[in-house]
Amino acid sequence: ESMKAAFGLSALEQKLADKLQIPEVIVLADDSDEQSWVKRELGRACIDIMGSRLAPGDVVAVAGGTTLASIAEMMVPNDVFSSITFVPARGGLGEDVEIQSNTIVSQMAKRARANYRLLHVPDQLSEETRDSLQLEPGIKELLELIRRPRMVVHGIGEAETMALRRRTEETAVDELKKQEAVAEAFGYYFDKDGRIVHKEQTTGLQLDDLTEEQTVITVAGGASKAEAIAAYMRYRPSDLLITDEGAAQAVLNYA
Ligand code: BG6
Repeated sequence: ESMKAAFGLSALEQKLADKLQIPEVIVLADDSDEQSWVKRELGRACIDIMGSRLAPGDVVAVAGGTTLASIAEMMVPNDVFSSITFVPARGGLGEDVEIQSNTIVSQMAKRARANYRLLHVPDQLSEETRDSLQLEPGIKELLELIRRPRMVVHGIGEAETMALRRRTEETAVDELKKQEAVAEAFGYYFDKDGRIVHKEQTTGLQLDDLTEEQTVITVAGGASKAEAIAAYMRYRPSDLLITDEGAAQAVLNYA
Protein backbone atom coordinates (compact mmCIF):
# COMPACT_ATOMS: atom_id res chain seq x y z
CA GLU A 1 0.00 0.00 0.00
CA SER A 2 2.70 2.50 0.88
CA MET A 3 4.42 1.86 -2.44
CA LYS A 4 1.11 2.47 -4.17
CA ALA A 5 0.54 5.70 -2.30
CA ALA A 6 4.05 6.83 -3.20
CA PHE A 7 3.33 6.33 -6.87
CA GLY A 8 -0.15 7.78 -6.63
CA LEU A 9 -1.62 4.57 -7.95
CA SER A 10 -4.37 4.30 -5.37
CA ALA A 11 -5.74 7.68 -6.47
CA LEU A 12 -5.64 6.43 -10.03
CA GLU A 13 -7.50 3.26 -9.02
CA GLN A 14 -10.26 5.30 -7.43
CA LYS A 15 -10.61 7.64 -10.41
CA LEU A 16 -10.76 4.75 -12.83
CA ALA A 17 -13.30 2.85 -10.72
CA ASP A 18 -15.52 5.96 -10.69
CA LYS A 19 -15.14 6.62 -14.38
CA LEU A 20 -15.81 3.04 -15.48
CA GLN A 21 -18.25 2.31 -12.65
CA ILE A 22 -16.46 -0.83 -11.59
CA PRO A 23 -16.56 -1.79 -7.91
CA GLU A 24 -12.85 -2.48 -7.74
CA VAL A 25 -9.83 -1.57 -9.81
CA ILE A 26 -6.20 -2.55 -9.36
CA VAL A 27 -3.64 -0.45 -11.22
CA LEU A 28 -0.06 -1.65 -11.50
CA ALA A 29 2.92 0.51 -12.38
CA ASP A 30 4.02 1.14 -15.97
CA ASP A 31 2.54 0.11 -19.30
CA SER A 32 2.40 -3.42 -20.67
CA ASP A 33 2.60 -2.09 -24.25
CA GLU A 34 6.11 -0.92 -23.43
CA GLN A 35 7.43 -3.32 -20.79
CA SER A 36 6.75 -7.00 -21.18
CA TRP A 37 7.16 -7.71 -17.44
CA VAL A 38 4.06 -5.64 -16.68
CA LYS A 39 1.85 -8.43 -18.05
CA ARG A 40 3.44 -10.82 -15.59
CA GLU A 41 2.73 -8.34 -12.80
CA LEU A 42 -0.91 -8.25 -13.90
CA GLY A 43 -0.79 -12.03 -13.74
CA ARG A 44 0.66 -12.06 -10.27
CA ALA A 45 -1.99 -9.63 -8.98
CA CYS A 46 -4.72 -11.77 -10.51
CA ILE A 47 -3.37 -14.90 -8.83
CA ASP A 48 -3.40 -13.16 -5.43
CA ILE A 49 -7.02 -12.19 -5.94
CA MET A 50 -7.96 -15.70 -7.05
CA GLY A 51 -6.25 -17.15 -4.01
CA SER A 52 -8.12 -14.87 -1.65
CA ARG A 53 -11.57 -15.02 -3.25
CA LEU A 54 -12.00 -18.62 -4.28
CA ALA A 55 -13.49 -21.25 -2.01
CA PRO A 56 -12.76 -24.98 -2.09
CA GLY A 57 -14.44 -26.76 -4.97
CA ASP A 58 -15.04 -23.62 -7.07
CA VAL A 59 -14.94 -23.70 -10.87
CA VAL A 60 -13.00 -20.97 -12.68
CA ALA A 61 -13.59 -20.30 -16.40
CA VAL A 62 -10.57 -18.87 -18.15
CA ALA A 63 -10.39 -17.08 -21.53
CA GLY A 64 -7.45 -17.03 -23.95
CA GLY A 65 -4.89 -14.44 -25.02
CA THR A 66 -1.36 -13.38 -24.11
CA THR A 67 -2.44 -11.68 -20.88
CA LEU A 68 -4.15 -14.83 -19.63
CA ALA A 69 -1.10 -16.82 -20.73
CA SER A 70 1.03 -14.69 -18.42
CA ILE A 71 -1.29 -15.46 -15.51
CA ALA A 72 -0.64 -19.14 -16.22
CA GLU A 73 3.08 -18.44 -16.41
CA MET A 74 3.09 -16.83 -12.96
CA MET A 75 0.79 -19.36 -11.28
CA VAL A 76 1.92 -20.94 -8.02
CA PRO A 77 0.20 -23.49 -5.77
CA ASN A 78 -2.01 -22.28 -2.96
CA ASP A 79 -4.07 -24.28 -0.42
CA VAL A 80 -7.37 -23.40 -1.97
CA PHE A 81 -6.24 -24.06 -5.56
CA SER A 82 -5.83 -27.80 -4.99
CA SER A 83 -9.61 -28.26 -5.01
CA ILE A 84 -10.39 -25.73 -7.76
CA THR A 85 -11.32 -26.82 -11.28
CA PHE A 86 -10.16 -24.66 -14.19
CA VAL A 87 -12.16 -24.83 -17.41
CA PRO A 88 -11.82 -22.93 -20.71
CA ALA A 89 -14.45 -20.22 -21.19
CA ARG A 90 -15.04 -20.68 -24.91
CA GLY A 91 -13.57 -22.53 -27.89
CA GLY A 92 -10.23 -21.72 -29.53
CA LEU A 93 -11.58 -18.71 -31.47
CA GLY A 94 -8.92 -19.09 -34.14
CA GLU A 95 -6.03 -18.22 -31.82
CA ASP A 96 -2.62 -19.88 -31.99
CA VAL A 97 -2.57 -22.91 -29.75
CA GLU A 98 -0.20 -21.34 -27.15
CA ILE A 99 -2.77 -18.70 -26.28
CA GLN A 100 -5.94 -20.75 -26.59
CA SER A 101 -7.90 -21.13 -23.40
CA ASN A 102 -7.49 -24.94 -23.35
CA THR A 103 -3.70 -24.56 -23.28
CA ILE A 104 -3.82 -21.82 -20.66
CA VAL A 105 -6.18 -23.87 -18.49
CA SER A 106 -3.92 -26.90 -18.51
CA GLN A 107 -0.82 -24.85 -17.67
CA MET A 108 -2.56 -22.85 -15.00
CA ALA A 109 -3.93 -25.98 -13.37
CA LYS A 110 -0.63 -27.84 -13.48
CA ARG A 111 1.27 -24.98 -11.88
CA ALA A 112 -1.48 -24.42 -9.30
CA ARG A 113 -1.78 -28.19 -8.67
CA ALA A 114 -5.48 -27.75 -9.38
CA ASN A 115 -7.95 -29.81 -11.41
CA TYR A 116 -8.91 -29.01 -14.96
CA ARG A 117 -11.20 -30.04 -17.78
CA LEU A 118 -10.60 -29.30 -21.43
CA LEU A 119 -13.13 -28.62 -24.15
CA HIS A 120 -12.29 -30.54 -27.30
CA VAL A 121 -14.67 -29.05 -29.81
CA PRO A 122 -13.43 -27.58 -33.11
CA ASP A 123 -14.14 -23.91 -33.82
CA GLN A 124 -15.44 -24.27 -37.34
CA LEU A 125 -18.65 -26.25 -37.05
CA SER A 126 -22.02 -25.90 -38.69
CA GLU A 127 -24.72 -24.83 -36.29
CA GLU A 128 -26.34 -28.22 -36.67
CA THR A 129 -23.20 -30.15 -35.72
CA ARG A 130 -22.50 -27.82 -32.81
CA ASP A 131 -26.03 -28.26 -31.50
CA SER A 132 -25.82 -32.02 -31.66
CA LEU A 133 -22.31 -32.13 -30.11
CA GLN A 134 -23.61 -30.11 -27.20
CA LEU A 135 -26.06 -32.90 -26.49
CA GLU A 136 -23.31 -35.52 -26.11
CA PRO A 137 -23.41 -36.49 -22.41
CA GLY A 138 -19.70 -35.78 -21.73
CA ILE A 139 -19.77 -32.42 -23.48
CA LYS A 140 -23.13 -31.48 -22.00
CA GLU A 141 -21.86 -32.03 -18.48
CA LEU A 142 -18.70 -30.02 -19.13
CA LEU A 143 -20.69 -27.19 -20.71
CA GLU A 144 -22.80 -27.00 -17.58
CA LEU A 145 -19.64 -26.37 -15.56
CA ILE A 146 -18.35 -23.83 -18.09
CA ARG A 147 -21.60 -21.91 -18.29
CA ARG A 148 -22.04 -21.66 -14.52
CA PRO A 149 -18.59 -21.07 -13.05
CA ARG A 150 -17.90 -19.34 -9.75
CA MET A 151 -15.37 -17.02 -11.31
CA VAL A 152 -14.54 -15.88 -14.84
CA VAL A 153 -11.13 -14.49 -15.73
CA HIS A 154 -10.76 -12.85 -19.13
CA GLY A 155 -8.86 -10.30 -21.17
CA ILE A 156 -9.97 -7.50 -23.46
CA GLY A 157 -8.57 -6.88 -26.89
CA GLU A 158 -8.66 -4.03 -29.35
CA ALA A 159 -11.16 -5.13 -32.03
CA GLU A 160 -9.08 -4.88 -35.19
CA THR A 161 -5.97 -6.33 -33.54
CA MET A 162 -7.99 -9.33 -32.41
CA ALA A 163 -9.73 -9.86 -35.75
CA LEU A 164 -6.40 -9.79 -37.59
CA ARG A 165 -4.67 -12.03 -35.04
CA ARG A 166 -7.44 -14.58 -35.49
CA ARG A 167 -7.04 -14.48 -39.27
CA THR A 168 -10.61 -13.33 -39.67
CA GLU A 169 -11.74 -13.14 -43.31
CA GLU A 170 -11.32 -9.76 -44.94
CA THR A 171 -15.04 -9.29 -45.51
CA ALA A 172 -15.70 -9.94 -41.82
CA VAL A 173 -12.96 -7.46 -40.82
CA ASP A 174 -14.56 -4.87 -43.10
CA GLU A 175 -17.92 -5.56 -41.51
CA LEU A 176 -16.45 -5.03 -38.03
CA LYS A 177 -15.04 -1.69 -39.21
CA LYS A 178 -18.40 -0.72 -40.64
CA GLN A 179 -20.01 -1.56 -37.30
CA GLU A 180 -17.33 0.53 -35.57
CA ALA A 181 -16.19 -2.32 -33.36
CA VAL A 182 -13.51 -1.15 -30.92
CA ALA A 183 -13.37 -3.89 -28.31
CA GLU A 184 -13.27 -7.65 -28.14
CA ALA A 185 -13.72 -10.09 -25.28
CA PHE A 186 -14.50 -13.83 -25.36
CA GLY A 187 -15.05 -13.65 -29.14
CA TYR A 188 -17.65 -10.91 -28.84
CA TYR A 189 -17.02 -7.54 -30.49
CA PHE A 190 -18.35 -4.27 -29.06
CA ASP A 191 -18.71 -0.71 -30.32
CA LYS A 192 -17.71 2.29 -28.21
CA ASP A 193 -21.05 2.32 -26.45
CA GLY A 194 -20.63 -1.28 -25.38
CA ARG A 195 -23.12 -2.72 -27.85
CA ILE A 196 -22.38 -6.21 -29.16
CA VAL A 197 -21.85 -5.83 -32.90
CA HIS A 198 -20.61 -9.34 -33.63
CA LYS A 199 -20.31 -12.67 -31.88
CA GLU A 200 -18.07 -15.55 -32.96
CA GLN A 201 -20.05 -18.75 -33.04
CA THR A 202 -18.31 -21.10 -30.70
CA THR A 203 -19.10 -23.55 -27.95
CA GLY A 204 -18.81 -22.56 -24.31
CA LEU A 205 -19.71 -19.64 -22.11
CA GLN A 206 -22.08 -17.13 -23.66
CA LEU A 207 -22.00 -13.61 -22.26
CA ASP A 208 -25.65 -13.71 -21.34
CA ASP A 209 -24.97 -16.75 -19.14
CA LEU A 210 -23.26 -14.42 -16.71
CA THR A 211 -25.29 -13.33 -13.71
CA GLU A 212 -24.55 -11.44 -10.52
CA GLU A 213 -23.42 -14.71 -8.99
CA GLN A 214 -20.16 -14.90 -10.89
CA THR A 215 -17.12 -12.92 -9.97
CA VAL A 216 -15.87 -11.55 -13.27
CA ILE A 217 -12.23 -10.52 -13.27
CA THR A 218 -10.96 -8.56 -16.24
CA VAL A 219 -7.23 -8.38 -16.81
CA ALA A 220 -6.15 -5.92 -19.51
CA GLY A 221 -3.33 -3.40 -19.67
CA GLY A 222 -1.50 -1.16 -22.10
CA ALA A 223 -2.49 2.30 -23.34
CA SER A 224 -3.44 0.78 -26.71
CA LYS A 225 -6.36 -1.00 -25.01
CA ALA A 226 -7.86 2.12 -23.38
CA GLU A 227 -10.74 2.57 -25.79
CA ALA A 228 -11.46 -1.16 -25.77
CA ILE A 229 -11.52 -1.31 -21.96
CA ALA A 230 -13.88 1.66 -21.72
CA ALA A 231 -16.18 0.21 -24.40
CA TYR A 232 -16.37 -3.25 -22.86
CA MET A 233 -17.08 -1.82 -19.40
CA ARG A 234 -20.10 -0.05 -20.85
CA TYR A 235 -21.44 -3.44 -21.81
CA ARG A 236 -20.94 -5.17 -18.54
CA PRO A 237 -19.04 -3.62 -15.72
CA SER A 238 -16.76 -6.32 -14.47
CA ASP A 239 -16.44 -6.94 -10.74
CA LEU A 240 -12.76 -6.23 -10.79
CA LEU A 241 -10.41 -4.75 -13.37
CA ILE A 242 -6.70 -5.44 -13.10
CA THR A 243 -4.82 -3.03 -15.33
CA ASP A 244 -1.72 -0.86 -15.58
CA GLU A 245 -0.91 2.82 -15.39
CA GLY A 246 -0.58 3.12 -19.17
CA ALA A 247 -4.15 1.94 -19.76
CA ALA A 248 -5.54 3.76 -16.72
CA GLN A 249 -4.12 7.16 -17.72
CA ALA A 250 -5.26 6.68 -21.30
CA VAL A 251 -8.82 5.76 -20.26
CA LEU A 252 -9.00 8.84 -18.05
CA ASN A 253 -7.67 11.10 -20.82
CA TYR A 254 -10.01 9.71 -23.40
CA ALA A 255 -13.63 10.89 -23.64
C1 BG6 B 1 -8.71 -13.53 -26.15
C2 BG6 B 1 -9.80 -13.51 -25.15
O1 BG6 B 1 -8.22 -14.80 -26.34
O2 BG6 B 1 -7.70 -12.64 -25.72
C3 BG6 B 1 -10.36 -12.15 -25.13
O3 BG6 B 1 -10.82 -14.44 -25.47
C4 BG6 B 1 -9.34 -11.04 -25.10
O4 BG6 B 1 -11.22 -12.09 -24.03
C5 BG6 B 1 -8.06 -11.32 -25.83
O5 BG6 B 1 -9.88 -9.92 -25.71
C6 BG6 B 1 -6.93 -10.41 -25.36
O6 BG6 B 1 -5.69 -10.86 -25.82
P1 BG6 B 1 -4.31 -10.35 -25.27
O7 BG6 B 1 -3.31 -11.15 -26.02
O8 BG6 B 1 -4.25 -8.91 -25.61
O9 BG6 B 1 -4.29 -10.61 -23.82
